[in-house]
This record gives sequence, structure tokens and C-alpha cells, in this order.
Amino acid sequence: MYKKRDTFLPYAIPLIDENDINEVVDTLKSGWVAKGPKTMEFEKRFAAYVGAKHAIAMNSATAALYIALIAAGIKPGDEVITTSMTFAATVNTIVHMGAIPVFVDIDPETGCIDADKIEEKITKKTKAIVPVHYTGHACDMDKIRTIAEKYNLFVSEDAAHAVETFYKGDLIGKKGDCACFSFYATKNICTGEGGMLTTNRDDIAEKARVMSLHGMSKAAWNRYGKSGSWRYDIEYPGFKYNMFDIQAALAKTQMNKLNEMQNRRKEIVSAYNDAFSKVDGVKIPVVRSYTTHSWHLYVLRLELDKLTIDRDRFIELMNEANIGISVHFIPVHLMSYYRNNYGFKEGDLPLTEKYFDSIVSLPLYPKMTNDDVADVIGTVTYIISNNHK
Ligand SMILES: Cc1ncc(COP(=O)(O)O)c(C=O)c1O
Repeated sequence: MYKKRDTFLPYAIPLIDENDINEVVDTLKSGWVAKGPKTMEFEKRFAAYVGAKHAIAMNSATAALYIALIAAGIKPGDEVITTSMTFAATVNTIVHMGAIPVFVDIDPETGCIDADKIEEKITKKTKAIVPVHYTGHACDMDKIRTIAEKYNLFVSEDAAHAVETFYKGDLIGKKGDCACFSFYATKNICTGEGGMLTTNRDDIAEKARVMSLHGMSKAAWNRYGKSGSWRYDIEYPGFKYNMFDIQAALAKTQMNKLNEMQNRRKEIVSAYNDAFSKVDGVKIPVVRSYTTHSWHLYVLRLELDKLTIDRDRFIELMNEANIGISVHFIPVHLMSYYRNNYGFKEGDLPLTEKYFDSIVSLPLYPKMTNDDVADVIGTVTYIISNNHK
């Protein structure tokens, strides 16, 4: 049933409760608000949670993605293979290195990079692959790692959506060269802004730690503490990318309720799947057998050949009904910087472009009530059936 909501349903809002607030206040009162004990505790906890040897907390996934490429020793002119169906940060960080982004088209059902098409893009200059676990669906990592081993390529997984994504039974972040997570406001764990680089490689961890804190020698974060020393060295010209304790305070309470939040996401997804699998004109997300989805995003695909409206009109109609909606993502290769500087153009990645035209991301977050979910289902169903050929 269609009804215009009285209030606007935001596309995404974090679940911040009294425990989160109290933990942040506790940090403010403690006097240690920069990188300190809570950040260190979160690093240990996150490493243990995913099963990685090291976890280095940063102020964003973007920072982690950039630091990963630095730690891997990517040089200007190197080629880095990735997907265009991602947020710009994945590709901007490649450009910051002076490296050249090389896009591989997607699997049009999952939206992830098509692992079977990577090898044909490899040249002598290829040095790394940055696969994106798009929406929280894992990429086919066995295939990607096999290619990486064959050509000696570094793999930095963009795991911005992948807190709680499994690949063949393992959490993302446990295996491989490194993975970069996001704790941005809308993500499955929210620290406001925040990120984490996990790795099993001591060399990558050491470099990432140093580079994300000015390039200072390892123990310098604690130089104002009792056991710290005023003396430090600069080993590289690094960056100020570290997480700090106000963020880590939120991480602690968010981790405590991660299971609960995931269960709510799954309930909403199953309500959406039940409803939309019966609606002619849309396709529900496809989940391959090798992954457990984190359900960071719920991307519905419109079957445009069956409809009298396009995706943009669909969004307008949802907004008119007071429901926030989004699109993940506008392909990066079609952004003006990438067109102007690399000569990318429409037609370069036909499956990515076709997919983009058909997708909408529906509201999906633990704070949604059953009425909110019913409103989304009712409105989508109404719009699709009323604009069917
Ligand atoms: C696929 C992807 N990669 C990277 C990022 C960057 O994450 P952050 O905002 O933590 O820097 C995002 C952010 O939404 C993303 O969606």
C-alpha cells in the first residue's frame, strides 16, 4: 500500500545509544582524547575479531587505502587494477601515488569486480589489485589471489563495506596482504569517521604504523605519557592519519552491539527480499555461495526494459513519498577528473555503466522500525507496479 510518510525517512543514520555517549564522555573526562589507550585497545580487539596479526587504526578507510599503497611500495607510473563501481576514494588514492588506475568491468549480478577479466588487463607495469567488497559482498578472493601470486602483485582489499563480510568462512581482513575498513557514519560500525588497515605482514604493518603518524618512529604516539619519551625520529615524511581515542571510544561500544546491529540488518534484508522477489520489474541482490554478505547496502536493480520510468524518476517518486534513497555508485571513470586526465569515456566499461543506470540503494540500518521497512516496501511496490509497461 502506498502512503506518503508524514516524516522524511533518512537514507541512513547511525545507531548511537546511551552506551556510546557515555563511553565518549568517559574519554573526554579521562583527559586522553588523542591517540591513546582506547585506540590501542580497539586495534587489538579488531585484529582478534577478524583474525589478523595486525590492525592499525586510522581516521578513515581512505587513509588506510592510501597508506596500503605506500606500504606496498607503489611507484609513479605503476598500474593498479580496480573497479569503477566504487566510491572515488578507492581510485583517488591510486592517483595520489602517481599510479595509473586500470578498471576491470564488473560481474553484473553482484556489482563486484569480475575476477575472470583481471588477467587480460595485466601488463608489465601492473603492481597491485584493489578489489572492492562492494555493498558487503566479497569479491572472489581465491581467483584474485591466484592471479596476484602468478604476477607478483600486491592486493589491498577495499573493505570499506566489509565489516562482517565472510569469504569462504573467514572474515574479510583475516587473509591476504591487507584490507582497509571504514567506520564512517553510515557503516556497519560507526566512529563518525574512522578506518582500519589489517594485515598479516609484519613489513606492511610496520610501514603503515609509521606512515600514518608523521613517519615517526614507532613509540612516538605515547611521547606525552609517563612511559613515553620526548625523543623521536622521522623515518619517512608521513601523514597525520591516525585514529584518536574519542573515535575509539565509539568503536568500543559499537563493537559491543555489532551482533545485535547485524541481526537487525538481516531482518530488514529478509523482509525486503521476501517482498521484492514477488515484484515484477525489480531484481533483489544476488549473493554468491562463497560469501556471507555484511549487508552494508541493499542495492535493488530496476528492470528498466519492463518499466515506463528510468532510475532517476524512480528516485524522485521515492523522495516525493518522503523516503531517502541513494545510488552506489556513479562509476568513477565517468567523473570529469578521470575523463579529462585519463581519457575514460562512456562505453569503456559497458557492464558497469548499464548496472549504474539500473541501481538504487534502499534505506538499511538497525534504527529502522518495522513501520519504516513496511513504508519502503509499500512505496517501491506501488511505484514499480504503477509504472510497469
Ligand atoms: C567502497 C568505498 N571505499 C572507500 C571509502 C572511503 O571510506 P572513508 O569514508 O572511511 O574514507 C568508501 C566510503 O564510503 C567506500 O564506499
